[in-house]
Amino acid sequence: MFTIKSLMGVAPMAGMTDSALRRLVKRQGGCGLVVSEMVSSEGLVRGIDRTLEYLDYTEEERPVAIQLFGGDPQAMAAAAVIVESRGADVVDINMGCPVPKIAKHHAGCSLMREPEQAAAIVAAMVQAVKIPVTVKMRAGWNDHLVNAPELARAVEAAGASAVAVHGRTAEQAYHGQADWELIGRVARAVSIPVLGCGDLLEPEQIVERLRTTPVAGVLVGRGILRNPWLFAQATDLLAGRAPLVVSREDRGRFLLDYIDLLEAEGPPVVALDDRAENTPLSGFGAENLPRSCFDDNNQSRIDFGDENKSGSYFAGVGAGAGAGDDAGSGRARAGRRRSAAPRASYERWIVNKLRALCAYYTKGIEGGGTLRVAVNQAPNVAAVRSLITKFFGIG
Ligand SMILES: Cc1cc2nc3c(=O)[nH]c(=O)nc-3n(C[C@H](O)[C@H](O)[C@H](O)COP(=O)(O)O)c2cc1C
Repeated sequence: MFTIKSLMGVAPMAGMTDSALRRLVKRQGGCGLVVSEMVSSEGLVRGIDRTLEYLDYTEEERPVAIQLFGGDPQAMAAAAVIVESRGADVVDINMGCPVPKIAKHHAGCSLMREPEQAAAIVAAMVQAVKIPVTVKMRAGWNDHLVNAPELARAVEAAGASAVAVHGRTAEQAYHGQADWELIGRVARAVSIPVLGCGDLLEPEQIVERLRTTPVAGVLVGRGILRNPWLFAQATDLLAGRAPLVVSREDRGRFLLDYIDLLEAEGPPVVALDDRAENTPLSGFGAENLPRSCFDDNNQSRIDFGDENKSGSYFAGVGAGAGAGDDAGSGRARAGRRRSAAPRASYERWIVNKLRALCAYYTKGIEGGGTLRVAVNQAPNVAAVRSLITKFFGIG
């Protein structure tokens, strides 16, 4: 199990926190927990290959939490059993996703409007599995319903082992600032550990929040996509050391290592299936969603901040499905090809993954905008590699 005191972990991010990225972040140091992209409970229960593949992880990622979304207590409990059978350390419940198509199905942040249903889901899952059941929520639904402290108490009573709070409401999406004062109130309202989340971009900010808010730890999303060394640097500061200095070359190597891992593992089924790219939620775990989520085409894109303004970064990105070749075996399959995808689809999938990451990664790097634009136009993986090698001066 993980130690919860001053824990620093990677927040779940659909389309971003695949096993390869989680491993690479972990290798940079200071990271005590990684959380998967959100996974559809309905998809798991129905045994959909591409949903099952989201459960993949490697031993080096431990402790690993798998995040589920859904609104039905029985389906969520059954999905938690599958997660446990695959050896995950924690099963987390998404009560923060503001995407209307998820909210409409009484899942994600919509559960903050239905605290009794939220508690029923937690209770059913706690009864079904032995591993800790945790909840990730937002501040509330909107300005009129900022109820994270109350919801945290309700899920604690239902048996949740910890909660994470992103200090914005669903209505805010990614606008404004995360409310850390509220996160502090949640921490004071319950006796289970509370992890704070929101707007931690610098190691100093992590240290400051850990020191001034009564949280047990932090989950970091976008900050880790910009700087995978953030936890190592915060660990240095906490220990009174100067923070690790990362060379330009190391920054470039991280991206090349990411490509290597994606290439080594082979394509997910989603790379073979253009339908996933055409779904309105593509790249936000859309491949995970119940078919009933796609009953109209009016889904608005969620705005994750500046990085995503063009809207194109997410096209075609999304962790994958699977050939289902080892369904039931549980563990991730690093170093082994999953299926024989046409090279073109597979290349496009990797290039899109790099585009998505570069949208964040190039922030704050001198000339980063140029690299971002060039990667967005690169036709294949070799071109992306070459751009990265030149830009970061890798010899
Ligand atoms: C691209 C992206 C995908 C996300 N996907 C999820 C998700 O699947 N589940 C979840 O609970 N939160 C998700 N989030 C929210 C983050 O976990 C986090 O709460 C939020 O980004 C605020 O933290 P930050 O300011 O450190 O990024 C996502 C955020 C981003 C930027």
